[in-house]
Amino acid sequence: MLFDTHAHYDDDWFDEDRQALLASMPEKGVGLIVNPGCTLESSRTAIALAQTYDHVYAAVGIHPENCHDFVPQHIDALRELAKHPKVVAIGEIGLDYYWEENPPREFQQQVLRAQLQLAQELKLPVIIHDREAHADTLAIVKEFPSVKGVFHCYSGSVEDARTLVKMGWMLSFNGALTFKNARKAPDVVAELPLEHLMIETDAPYLAPVPHRGKRCDSGLVYLVAEKIAQIKGISADEVARITTENGKRFFGIE
Ligand code: NI
Repeated sequence: MLFDTHAHYDDDWFDEDRQALLASMPEKGVGLIVNPGCTLESSRTAIALAQTYDHVYAAVGIHPENCHDFVPQHIDALRELAKHPKVVAIGEIGLDYYWEENPPREFQQQVLRAQLQLAQELKLPVIIHDREAHADTLAIVKEFPSVKGVFHCYSGSVEDARTLVKMGWMLSFNGALTFKNARKAPDVVAELPLEHLMIETDAPYLAPVPHRGKRCDSGLVYLVAEKIAQIKGISADEVARITTENGKRFFGIE
């Protein structure tokens, strides 16, 4: 069984076939999915999907690219949403310095800290988005030593990955690992223990090779498991089994 630990089924791209697609996942071998929120509205949609499907869980959070209008009351709203029994994490939260039109860096940092504080209070893990912001993201998560999390679509160095693993954190990988231009990620996968790795799709984006550029769904997550298996020289079944155990343990899913 495969566990897609990060997929956005609230995305418009799934408007035509969302329900049929989600319902079909267990028969495709994908027994668990976590749908993180990126805004309050998408967090609510994630919870609604989790309520509909046994195999779907939700995370609630405000993504750095969507935090322009953040006010402290949004933390109260997230706290309420997080009471739902199928909410397993705060996410997706973090820093994104890639797009110039993103909110100012200091504002993103403030929103990230507020949400890490909430995770600490609620004793929930966090799902971190870090794009071109490795040093600041790592420094800020270190301010909350009791909070554990995952760096999704990990794109940092082997050295930072070792630091995160020592802190008890997880790293997750998706289709980007299969791209020809993937540079650091394969080294990180080779060097780090499988017990700290999880797999994901980030659907509808980042479809793995040979589907690169097309809409991605959780049915393609096996290609990420196969790539990790190839890098580590073990079977894809072993990767599926261990990353599923890791995900269940991390998110506290029975
Ligand atoms: Ni995402």
